[in-house]
Amino acid sequence: MTIPVITVDGPTASGKGTVASRLAQALGYHYLDSGALYRLVALDGLEQGVDPDDGAALAQLAAQLRPRFADGHVSLRGRDVTDMIRTEDVSRTASRIAVHAPVRSALLELQKAFREAPGLVADGRDMGTVVFPDAALKVFLTASVEARAERRHKQLIEKGFTASMPALLQDLRARDERDSQRATAPLKPAEDAYLLDSSTLSIDEVVQQILHWHASGTT
Ligand code: DC
Repeated sequence: MTIPVITVDGPTASGKGTVASRLAQALGYHYLDSGALYRLVALDGLEQGVDPDDGAALAQLAAQLRPRFADGHVSLRGRDVTDMIRTEDVSRTASRIAVHAPVRSALLELQKAFREAPGLVADGRDMGTVVFPDAALKVFLTASVEARAERRHKQLIEKGFTASMPALLQDLRARDERDSQRATAPLKPAEDAYLLDSSTLSIDEVVQQILHWHASGTT
């Protein structure tokens, strides 16, 4: 029997991380935050002084990546880097290094290995198109760039950071452009994905909708 996978793809700040981890919790499934893997490679590259344009050198780092995920924390070579991979510097670099085909293929097997019984919820950009094309349920979660910038703004203010809406909007647009225009595994919905616009929905409403689709597919 194949192990069921639910994929949740979508642009930056669409809420897919929160949605996917809540889904995993509700179903008792494992959870893959594939963006964290790109962020780990970006952090490793930055710390080792690797040029973000050097796809071959970054692919080597990616191939040696042995991250450990436990209790909402991620560590690399025994060091907890949960917060470090969320900095703006790492976010920007992750988006740049993700364009390299060798980096993407070096991370492929690592991502597939997360598929363990009783099931997996995977979030990212190419979960439904490239990594788990045979997923039982594929969701493409979007939200307007304004809604996403507002959510990010709120999160940053809550964490005590200062944030400017024009700068956030500009940054999100630049990341969207890079993620969707790249030649390898661009951000786009799988042909068999359900599209869900969360601009005016709460996280709970999004989770309930996906659970409903999941239940209708399994009953
Ligand atoms: O989902 P996130 O913001 O943590 O992802 C960080 C970066 O990694 C993002 O700019 C795009 C890239 N990424 C990707 O190319 N493919 C994935 N499956 C997940 C993330």
